[in-house]
Amino acid sequence: MQRLDEFLTTVCRDVDQRLDELIPSASTRPRRLHEAIRWSLFAGGKRFRPALLIAVGETLGATRDRLLTSAAAIEMIHTYSLIHDDLPSMDDDDLRRGRATCHVQFDEATAILAGDVLQTLAFKAIADDVVLEPDVRIGLILTISSAAGTPVGMVSGQQLDIEAEGRDASVDEILAIHSQKTGAMITAAAVSGALIAGTKSSEVESIQSYAQGLGLLFQITDDLLDITQETAVLGKTAGKDVSSRKATFPSVLGIERSREMAAELRSESGEALRRIDRDTELLNALLEYVVARSR
Ligand code: IPE
Ligand code: IPE
Ligand code: MG
Ligand code: MG
Ligand code: MG
Repeated sequence: MQRLDEFLTTVCRDVDQRLDELIPSASTRPRRLHEAIRWSLFAGGKRFRPALLIAVGETLGATRDRLLTSAAAIEMIHTYSLIHDDLPSMDDDDLRRGRATCHVQFDEATAILAGDVLQTLAFKAIADDVVLEPDVRIGLILTISSAAGTPVGMVSGQQLDIEAEGRDASVDEILAIHSQKTGAMITAAAVSGALIAGTKSSEVESIQSYAQGLGLLFQITDDLLDITQETAVLGKTAGKDVSSRKATFPSVLGIERSREMAAELRSESGEALRRIDRDTELLNALLEYVVARSR
């Protein structure tokens, strides 16, 4: 879809510019820390969570100017989660976004600290975002910190993911892992866009249901791509889930049933969009993009 391609191109450009403004330059001391942050952040990530936040916000009437800092903040937290996810004590990966992982390029201590500080910079950026009213900033901090943390957030999901490694898991367990480690932050991105637009609560609920399906769908696709796609396209090592005996949708349900599940989630999320009385073409296109993505 041409409109989506154009939208994603402008999002990547605008978000990268805002990130560059918000992150200390590579020559700021301690240099190694800032070089490491920039190494992982400016490495060609898809910027899906910022795109979702901006797509929801613009669909509901917010200007991009109001959305950009929060979109950049969400990307900082996401990149922190990837840096820590790749550590030897977690998934132990050496390739990310087509280049060496942070701990391989720098060292483990620097990678841990780069992740830590991306998280604090993200919340500082939102607290400091003068184009937003103070109560909107507090709402964003609450929404995003809950989604990034525990008991139903990215960190708790990562803990469950690690605990499930190497043993059989049930469908309910996989649903809990995926909706926490990945779904929560994707839902928070969408809800943040709605908060910035000042949307009424019935619409926020529909956006939330749309994004919950989308988030789960995003991780199912990630699991499928780990099996079906090549390392060169993924920019991260293919086949790692099987060799690490990760609890994934394909490992529990098989590839075919996982694909069916993705199709079901896609149509449920599409249903949720029909409850919103706006032009939801872009949000629908994002659903399609996640189902059909090749990396
Ligand atoms: C990878 O996220 C980790 C998951 C939650 C599946 P992305 O697929 O969005 O990775 P980047 O940001 O494009 O590198
Ligand atoms: C990571 O899930 C989810 C995060 C919260 C970072 P994965 O471990 O499947 O992500 P990849 O495949 O390494 O990108
Ligand atoms: Mg992981
Ligand atoms: Mg991983
Ligand atoms: Mg994966």
